[in-house]
Amino acid sequence: MNPNGMESGGEGSGVPREVPGSYGVPYVSAIRDRLDFYYNQGQDKYFESRVQKYGSTVVRINVPPGPFMARDPRVVAVLDAKSFPVLFDVTKVEKKDLFTGTYMPSTALTGGYRVCSYLDPAEPTHAKVKQMLFSLLASRKDAFIPAFRSHFSSLLATVESQILLAGKSDFNKLNDATSFEFIGDAYFGVLPSASELGATGPAKAAKWLIWQLHPLVTLGLPRILEEPLLHTFHLPPFLVKGDYKALYNYFFAAAAKALDDAESLGLKRDEACHNLLFATVFNSYGGLKVLLPGILSRVAAAGEKFHQRLAKEVRAAVADAGGKVTMAALEKMELTKSAVWEALRLDPPVKFQYGRAKTDLSIESHDAVFAVKKGEMLFGYQPCATKDPRVFGATAAEFVGDRFVGEEGSKLLRYVYWSNGRETDSPSVANKQCPGKNLVVLVGRLLVVELFLRYDTFTADVGTDLLGTKVEFTAVTKATSGPEF
Ligand code: HEM
Repeated sequence: MNPNGMESGGEGSGVPREVPGSYGVPYVSAIRDRLDFYYNQGQDKYFESRVQKYGSTVVRINVPPGPFMARDPRVVAVLDAKSFPVLFDVTKVEKKDLFTGTYMPSTALTGGYRVCSYLDPAEPTHAKVKQMLFSLLASRKDAFIPAFRSHFSSLLATVESQILLAGKSDFNKLNDATSFEFIGDAYFGVLPSASELGATGPAKAAKWLIWQLHPLVTLGLPRILEEPLLHTFHLPPFLVKGDYKALYNYFFAAAAKALDDAESLGLKRDEACHNLLFATVFNSYGGLKVLLPGILSRVAAAGEKFHQRLAKEVRAAVADAGGKVTMAALEKMELTKSAVWEALRLDPPVKFQYGRAKTDLSIESHDAVFAVKKGEMLFGYQPCATKDPRVFGATAAEFVGDRFVGEEGSKLLRYVYWSNGRETDSPSVANKQCPGKNLVVLVGRLLVVELFLRYDTFTADVGTDLLGTKVEFTAVTKATSGPEF
């Protein structure tokens, strides 16, 4: 039940219905749908138009990439806040080999192993790897705030000098380099740039990410090129082997302590290292590449008045903590916390989730109950669920920075799903919720804190990037009140 009773649906307890929708003609319709998804309609319209056409938020549709990369593009899509959480329930859905959806990248890209993100919790290795990650993050918890502050204060100093010289500064580009250094520093205390990788880490990482995600993106090239190149066949893994090996060497040396711990959990050293690489470069770095521009763009667009409120809150909490950014100070920042959750609600960095029905299931939307057969693929497009007007009301599609403030506001947190679970739930070795959940929210808050300790306000141009939002700072106004931090 939600605070407004919005989870109770019309026929919630009725006889299950057939899921409406159509897969069309094999191959032909899946390719036509892929073109709609990438070029003719775009992601949001692709799903919204099908919800409208069938008058239901649970529908049968094809999802990209389809032929010839995916064996079967047919899914049952769950597109509202009530039906979506079936994907979190590992008693109902199997999560094996479907992290990227209906296709799976070659394991040649991950040292021959199926890494944690592709494992179902019923597979014994899942718990061991996830435990390794929980232990690593816990052991480094005191490193996160100082590492973030040191790397991102230099980023902002660069932003200022670029604005002076060129009138603007590309945040994504700076973030790509800074986030890579920050994560290496925070997790292992070893700067990637000080290793044999030198300054090549972010480019090698980006190339390896593309080899796994190309079926799901467009580069803005003509479709006649992109369709055969990106969306029909896998790019050959041998072309990225050297880059991967260089990244692996960094982890093997820098993460020696974490690898020792992994061996004591019963993992082989090389399997643990491939998993650490994946969790750091794909999950963490890939996540921050999308997350931080997303938060920045929403805060930029919220305008000067909202900036003043954030600055006041941030500076007061830090002053109370003796001029230090501490966990306790961050906990007091209600508006900052809310703004980060609101950005995660509107722009979840990972938009697609999948799960295969373990048994015959009944899935409830707001309006009806639907029957799904064992073995069918369930799919959620998260922005449809987290912008559900039946939960978030008339402002569901808008950025309301203080939406989650106060007792009433915090009741809505259970409808924030970015971590593959409710924001009110916790990741564990038994579920598939993101083990980086707390760290991600912390990093989002630290970005806001760094901005408003330094600036009274700022402006930025916002556009779209390969995987999310592109942001260019156009002006910053240095802080006029409060102590120097
Ligand atoms: C799983 C999102 C950062 C490690 C997931 C899933 C999502 C997600 C949606 C579930 C995927 C699925 O099963 O369908 C994000 C976002 C991040 C982020 C948006 C940043 C903005 C991190 C960080 C770590 C991490 C910092 C570091 C440990 C993982 C791992 C899994 C996972 C290992 C698989 C969990 C399992 O198998 O139980 N993440 N994540 N992620 N994430 Fe994150």
